[in-house]
Amino acid sequence: MIRNAMPNFQQIFGTDPEAQASAPGRVNLLGEHTDYNDGFVLPTAIPQRTIVQLGFSQDAQHHFYAADLDERVSILADNPPSSGFASYVFGCIQLLQTAGYPIPPLNLYIKSSVPIGVGLSSSAAMEVATLRGVRLLLNLPIDDVRIAQVGQQAEIQYAGLNCGIMDQMASSLADTDSMLFLDTRTLERRVLPFPQGAEILVLDSGVHHALAAGSGYNQRRAECESAARLLGVKALRDITTTQATETLPEPLWHRARHVISENNRVLEAVKGVSAKRFGELMNASHASQRDDYEVSVPAVDTLVAILQETPGVFGARLTGGGFGGASVALVASGQAKTIAQDVLERYNSVGYAGRILVPA
Ligand code: GLA
Repeated sequence: MIRNAMPNFQQIFGTDPEAQASAPGRVNLLGEHTDYNDGFVLPTAIPQRTIVQLGFSQDAQHHFYAADLDERVSILADNPPSSGFASYVFGCIQLLQTAGYPIPPLNLYIKSSVPIGVGLSSSAAMEVATLRGVRLLLNLPIDDVRIAQVGQQAEIQYAGLNCGIMDQMASSLADTDSMLFLDTRTLERRVLPFPQGAEILVLDSGVHHALAAGSGYNQRRAECESAARLLGVKALRDITTTQATETLPEPLWHRARHVISENNRVLEAVKGVSAKRFGELMNASHASQRDDYEVSVPAVDTLVAILQETPGVFGARLTGGGFGGASVALVASGQAKTIAQDVLERYNSVGYAGRILVPA
């Protein structure tokens, strides 16, 4: 099938853009479902990015165009869209307004290579790219951490996902050459090298997730908050040993055990452990997500199991919000593409449709 070339900003809006910005997706190496428990995370940026171009609207409406979806949405400034990509963009703009920055009606064009629904934060990349673009166009005095915070609020208030701050912080502050160790309570962070002799491989399981309202994601968060209340702490981050959770009713104690053990895995990983030990921590993280937190699915378990038994792989796990999506592996330097070929051949031969996402 021949696909028509995507129209550009000029063809959609009849003028040239006045500003352009971009932001990457992210892959989380360790520290899953810890961010909304005030815990620790360890993401890195991926090469895939979302690009936003902006100009001033000629009428009283915002006009948003998503090139990959070929979808155009026009909205009056105080009338939120009911769903879709426009909710995230509109949310970012509205929250800037509420924070005291008047935003005129805009023309906004989005194009992205960040895969959607696989746990690599396509929505955070869209939020951060949008906010960077608006900051540039209007010369707003907001820093990169503020951008992440506004992006997170847009996701919570306008897309219905009660998320933590990892994705937006990673998209706003991480790069592809290092890991970003973040304390999500204090927002203190350190940029760290990957374990020596290792690189990242990300494979899509082909089973996609949708995390927003009504999904198990918000339910898991609520369970963690109940567990913290019963244990008398502000957040599960304040508990450091898994024994402390054994008095909790089911399923809360398993949920809490995942969060506490996962925080401990991140804290060990950032001590500069070998690739071998880092891989073991990733494998343990997968088992914990699968058995205690129950956010994996059979396809991802199969993909992760194949990865874990392939020579050259130090460790592998489900990454992102879960209920489908991608797996991340730490593999020997220079071997990611060969390993991906072998693993995908085996995975796809049992009826799945996996594909390589990183290296891109
Ligand atoms: C999603 C959320 C993040 C985080 C991860 C799970 O990506 O947006 O805040 O909770 O899931 O670690």
